[in-house]
Amino acid sequence: MPSHPAIRLHQGGRPLYLEHVETRPPGPGEALVRLRYAALNHRDLWMRQGAYGNSGAPPCTLGSDGFGFVEAVGSGEDEAWVGRGVVLYPALAWGASDRAPDPAWRILGVPDAGTWAGAVTIPVSQLFDAPPGWKPEEAAALPLAGLTAHRALFRRGGLTAGPDLRAAAEPQRVLITGIGGGVAQFALQFARAAGAEAWVTSGSEDKLRAAKAAGARGGALYIAEGWGAALAREAGPFDLCVDSAGGAGWKEICAALKPGGALVYLGATRGPGEIPMRDAFFKQIDIRGTAMGSRGDFTKMLRFVTDNNIRPSIDSVFPLEDAEKALARMDAGEQTGKIVLKIS
Ligand SMILES: NC(=O)c1ccc[n+]([C@@H]2O[C@H](COP(=O)([O-])OP(=O)(O)OC[C@H]3O[C@@H](n4cnc5c(N)ncnc54)[C@H](OP(=O)(O)O)[C@@H]3O)[C@@H](O)[C@H]2O)c1
Repeated sequence: MPSHPAIRLHQGGRPLYLEHVETRPPGPGEALVRLRYAALNHRDLWMRQGAYGNSGAPPCTLGSDGFGFVEAVGSGEDEAWVGRGVVLYPALAWGASDRAPDPAWRILGVPDAGTWAGAVTIPVSQLFDAPPGWKPEEAAALPLAGLTAHRALFRRGGLTAGPDLRAAAEPQRVLITGIGGGVAQFALQFARAAGAEAWVTSGSEDKLRAAKAAGARGGALYIAEGWGAALAREAGPFDLCVDSAGGAGWKEICAALKPGGALVYLGATRGPGEIPMRDAFFKQIDIRGTAMGSRGDFTKMLRFVTDNNIRPSIDSVFPLEDAEKALARMDAGEQTGKIVLKIS
């Protein structure tokens, strides 16, 4: 069996190891993908910190995102995949429903061997052709965050894309919190491409300025008390907020939303959302969770980025062996967009 370098998690809270591991040959219905680039997601940082319920897990390769070339397949009927440049749909065993995943679904990368490695063996059903003409690092940065942002805005958030929305008398107004984040950067691009008016929050003035240059109408510092009501006065109240932080921010978000508006949340970077109950029920606010997305969502997201000529916002590229340094940058919140690992 061929062996490849891999960044391995032995125990949450402990350093990661660069090890050479054997990559299982593909069985029936599987492919072996030789990876060129991988990307970071906050999940990897949670795992590294032991904050993902994984502290006793056996050693495993991290990483949910990757771009590479199919080197071998386990079934003759899949031969056509060999040699193609692919991205990996990172939800394993999601199931057939677009509404919610099957109970046994998993995110690629711990407990299944992930993408921070020279190669990965994965079901052929997870393979998609990389968007044509993209740089390999762009393709690697897309899957998990792009999928999550797309489902949050469109399927869960009810935003409509395309001419219908552009023709509407009033554009939908969308608030995206923590714009430095990987998912948030996609959400801003997607909302703009759909014709919505997008506003953002950040902990950094520089990131707010950069977001405005990238098409956001305006924004607020989430560290300022009362930013929600102030932003609603400036922008007009919001139809939809996509949030990944939770915590005390929910009080502000509920103040910023219009009656009947929706808060779609996908993470809890700042802890459990503190719901202002009276505000939320009197304003009839819909609070909806979302995570990753179905195969159908992934297919739509790939088409959406291609049709709208959207490219991932890449913050930085680190060599695979510097995965710890890459995670430290994410931990410090220094990034704007996706942090990528170069494998070969
Ligand atoms: N449910 C899912 O399927 C799914 C998928 C992907 C991610 N997630 C979760 O979503 C979160 C973001 O993931 P990511 O990969 O995009 O992470 P990331 O790239 O590390 O981004 C995190 C961002 O959080 C923002 N932030 C920090 N404190 C905040 C606060 N008090 N209010 C608002 N924003 C705040 C920061 O924005 P600024 O830099 O602008 O200050 C930071 O850039 C994580 O909790 C992750 O676990 C969930």
